[in-house]
Amino acid sequence: MVSDNSSPIDSALKAFRSHNPVAVPTETVYGLAAPVSDLVGIKRIFELKGRPLFNPLIVHVDSLDMAKRYAKNWSHLHDSFASSFWPGPLGLIVGKNELISDLITASHPTVALRMPDHPIALGLIKALGQGLAAPSANKSNSTSPSQAEHVLRHFGTEVLVLDGGECRVGLESTLLEIKEEEKEIVISRPGLYGCSAIEAFLKDQGLRDYRVRYGKGISSPGQLRSHYRPQKPLVVYEKGVPKESVSKAIEKRWGKVRALESSLPEDPYLAARSLYGILQPKELESFDLISLYAPMDLSMDPWVAVKDRLEKAASLFL
Ligand code: TXA
Ligand code: MG
Repeated sequence: MVSDNSSPIDSALKAFRSHNPVAVPTETVYGLAAPVSDLVGIKRIFELKGRPLFNPLIVHVDSLDMAKRYAKNWSHLHDSFASSFWPGPLGLIVGKNELISDLITASHPTVALRMPDHPIALGLIKALGQGLAAPSANKSNSTSPSQAEHVLRHFGTEVLVLDGGECRVGLESTLLEIKEEEKEIVISRPGLYGCSAIEAFLKDQGLRDYRVRYGKGISSPGQLRSHYRPQKPLVVYEKGVPKESVSKAIEKRWGKVRALESSLPEDPYLAARSLYGILQPKELESFDLISLYAPMDLSMDPWVAVKDRLEKAASLFL
């Protein structure tokens, strides 16, 4: 955390001058950030997280103009998406130019750009005058941080954390790519916005010939199941599954264990916001696993992102 009297933004700028990444709050989750032009700092992000170099980072911008500065072939439709959804939890995967190094994009010709909706993140990018490359501020293959305290648990005092409170959205951004020739929008990671929100937006723009679909995502560990695993096994059971079957399934797989019982809030937005807190509670140390009840049908549209993260995080889904 910031401990002296300087402002959080000044402290972050100072850390950047020494090539030290800084944990920055956004509306989705905390990011571990370094300036786009600082390849030493960016390399340090990969080292701190234990992240393989073939998993690309998202670049955060403070404006549409800054996004265009880094993009190649930015189209009218990119403008429409950005001006409608930014600042906000939507990343656009676009062609990159030479200002974005291959280290950031893992040598892919594209970069994921997004303008976060958080005054600290935006203030820092503005003060810096350039984009911030930032993955979520957690060790690789573990749960993303939706509170400053989660970041501290991952990195201790190794990293300066700008505390911006609990993240309002709580789940990582929606990532999508516009394929103009194919007239397709491919969502590689659902977030607050899923297919139906994007379809509604296109309809609003009069673009009825576009198809929206979920893609498999880039072949990187960022999209793999193990990427979201909490520290202890997670068992998720949906409405309608009898409690005795849950206990039996747990016992069969793990024997007699102490399960931390939790349940998901019934409102999808609140559930998204609370999810990463539920998956990494302070008291988890005294338990062997988390047993999470989902009192709703997770296949309904507003739940698509929560279900995606739960499926990736769970050792057992009943
Ligand atoms: O909400 C968010 O997006 C948060 C905050 C900090 O902005 N960031 C985040 O970053 O979740 P990270 O690194 O944990 O996840 C980024 C995902 C990874 O799955 C990565 O593979 C994908 O974005 N990605 C990055 N660049 C890409 C690209 N050029 N093409 C396709 N996928 C990309
Ligand atoms: Mg991540």
